[in-house]
Amino acid sequence: MKISPLQTARYAYNPKLPGMLRGGISEICVKEGAPTHSVADQDKISALFPNTYGKKEITFVKGTNNAEKKKQVVGVILSGGQAPGGHNVICGLYDALKAGSPDNVLIGFKGGPSGLLEDDYIIFDDEYINRYRNTGGFDIIGSGRTKLETEEQFAIADQVCKKHGVNAIVIIGGDDSNTNAAVLAEYNAAHNTGVQVIGCPKTIDGDLKNEDIECSFGFDTATKTYSELIGNIERDANSAKKYWHFIKVMGRSASHVALECALETQPNICLIGEEVAAKKLSLSAIADQIADSVEKRAAKGMNFGVAIIPEGIVEFVPEFSVLIAEINELLAGEKTDAFNALPDWDAKYAFIEQGLTKESMAVFAVLPQDIQKQLFLERDPHGNVQVSLIESEQLFAEMVRAKLQERKAAGSYKGKYSTQHHFFGYEGRCAFPSNFDADYCYSIGYNAFMLIQYGFNGYLSKVSNLSAPAEEWIAGGMPITKMMNIERRNGKDKPVIRKALVELDGAPFTYFAAHRDEWAEETCFTYPGAIQYYGPSEVCDITTRTLALEKGTFSE
Ligand code: FBP
Repeated sequence: MKISPLQTARYAYNPKLPGMLRGGISEICVKEGAPTHSVADQDKISALFPNTYGKKEITFVKGTNNAEKKKQVVGVILSGGQAPGGHNVICGLYDALKAGSPDNVLIGFKGGPSGLLEDDYIIFDDEYINRYRNTGGFDIIGSGRTKLETEEQFAIADQVCKKHGVNAIVIIGGDDSNTNAAVLAEYNAAHNTGVQVIGCPKTIDGDLKNEDIECSFGFDTATKTYSELIGNIERDANSAKKYWHFIKVMGRSASHVALECALETQPNICLIGEEVAAKKLSLSAIADQIADSVEKRAAKGMNFGVAIIPEGIVEFVPEFSVLIAEINELLAGEKTDAFNALPDWDAKYAFIEQGLTKESMAVFAVLPQDIQKQLFLERDPHGNVQVSLIESEQLFAEMVRAKLQERKAAGSYKGKYSTQHHFFGYEGRCAFPSNFDADYCYSIGYNAFMLIQYGFNGYLSKVSNLSAPAEEWIAGGMPITKMMNIERRNGKDKPVIRKALVELDGAPFTYFAAHRDEWAEETCFTYPGAIQYYGPSEVCDITTRTLALEKGTFSE
């Protein structure tokens, strides 16, 4: 394989550990904190996790390592979507494990959680690991979205662990995967399998965060990558002065990614799904907001602009959610075949008109035809509309066009309106991790081994104080049950890690809300440029604005 010059250089990068982990394994001991309680529904969660609930938070400090000395055989799994830094979690875990004893073994289960069930694995060695240090991607062992959640699966996992002598599993995943890690940890404790489970917080979406986990890994690099691209587009827009760019960014439901990119690049518009839901905004009201910006800028001779649209936006529009639910019902089961057999779009449209309520039909009727068709074509294996595939950047661009036509007819708008559409998602998930993610991930992995060595089960590897230099980061562990509450999923009450949405009274949104009117009317674009891996610390080691604002360390 040909290696790029940057990859070669990155192999030599030494990720920074928290100060307390720098003295070597023999110099790390545990400081116990207080017993923990789940964030809500304490009675139900404690009843569901009788063996792992209420354990103490722990912090690692400098001191004599008094963990039991035994051979460690650890299995690791990458779960869900790629996020920059995953390789470094495994490298940190491997280095700590080998520093513990050269006889320790790290097994990588391939292709996600299914690798554990199918006993598809590799055993890491120095040569293999070294090829992946400080690189993006999950290709070191691959990832997958199989959910580890049933007792049958846990029993199989136990057999596979017994076969290899595995005494701990590290699951690198998002909120769902770590919820499942907690359930597996409880199963293992209840069945005395002798296998510990440790989770690591991953996702570019930034929605696995809470008072304990300051951010999930990958968010920093992915948002910096998108912000670079958005900044470049802003500069192009400001140079050519002829296009409005509508840019959808990944991030599933929550709008953290869109908000962070907006804080980095100061676009004219950034929609925030959580605000749309709170204010119960309609599609038409959102299109009007964007059209207001277009009109005001056109009046100043600026027929260009940039609008950021979060991937999950339409889920937050109340009338759109109702429409989606009605479409799912309309095509449930065999009705899909009847719909597909209709000869042309006119016949299909008549079928839709008959099946939807008057209110939903009114919403459907104003959608651009391409989007109308998408709603009936792109379906998941259960026959449901795949909301994330809806080209909402195109949807809003076209709805704004219709608004501007009305305004032109009414004489209030005299500008020109040409659009370009973009979707940034996969571009950012496997970028070379920023120094922050390289350091954070390596620390999470290293720390995960310390949790294993000290015998913890059902803990998330926690590295905090992240807005300070790495030297001051705090390493430790938090019982996953502390982050859980009961939520309704697929018609059943389930214990899950609470997903973090954008808080409308939080510092990042408040900052955005205080500036967006000016950004909407003027050209206040900022150009972050590419992630820098080498150079001054104030350029190379900066964290996200979201984190800096949340921690009160942000300065203009
Ligand atoms: P995770 O939640 O698994 O980290 O995935 C993140 C994500 O990139 C979302 O932003 C996006 O909606 C989804 O994965 C896309 O999934 P896929 O890779 O299956 O297309």
